[in-house]
Amino acid sequence: MSQIENNEVLQCIHDRRSVRRFQKKPVSAEQLTCLIQAAQAAPSAMNEQPWYFVAIQKRELIEQLGQLLADSGEDPYYGASLLIVGFGRREAHSPITDVTLAMANMMLAAQSLGLGTCWIDYSRHVFNHPQFAGLQRSLGVPEGYFCVGSLIVGVPDEQPQAHTVQHQIVSVVG
Ligand SMILES: Cc1cc2nc3c(=O)[nH]c(=O)nc-3n(C[C@H](O)[C@H](O)[C@H](O)COP(=O)(O)O)c2cc1C
Repeated sequence: MSQIENNEVLQCIHDRRSVRRFQKKPVSAEQLTCLIQAAQAAPSAMNEQPWYFVAIQKRELIEQLGQLLADSGEDPYYGASLLIVGFGRREAHSPITDVTLAMANMMLAAQSLGLGTCWIDYSRHVFNHPQFAGLQRSLGVPEGYFCVGSLIVGVPDEQPQAHTVQHQIVSVVG
């Protein structure tokens, strides 16, 4: 464990948890820029960088999106005041992998800035639903992109427990 404690990157990776309760404090413009830059630093197949992000800070819009397909009446975005939706270029080699790697970078960058995140799959169902085809265009997403996933981001108001890990996940050969 000491290797983790002495290494800020490893510490960040291990400390990250999915956060679903946030303080009222907003994410600053500077912090948002850091997250986007972290996403841009990710690797991508053939270096295509086939990603596009929409950062939504307007609470009413997040609420509206949350009501489009939610049938349980529960808010899929947990009242967060920043939602970052990730899109991938349909014609790229590996858009899902590329966008996911970029968003994983964002999650770790957020952790390092004292912010919490949680991947919310719900957005994928909304933005890729034929009924809401015009939605991503209205948010400035270029043609030819589809939604890969989304992150809620904010100042944590909870400290979730680490998930239990399965140990039999590797065969070391050689
Ligand atoms: C692809 C993916 C989809 C997820 N979708 C949701 C979601 O829709 N809502 C939610 O509350 N958490 C969602 N999560 C968060 C997981 O529940 C969480 O990562 C898992 O329980 C492990 O906890 P940890 O992130 O704190 O380690 C998702 C995570 C991933 C990777």
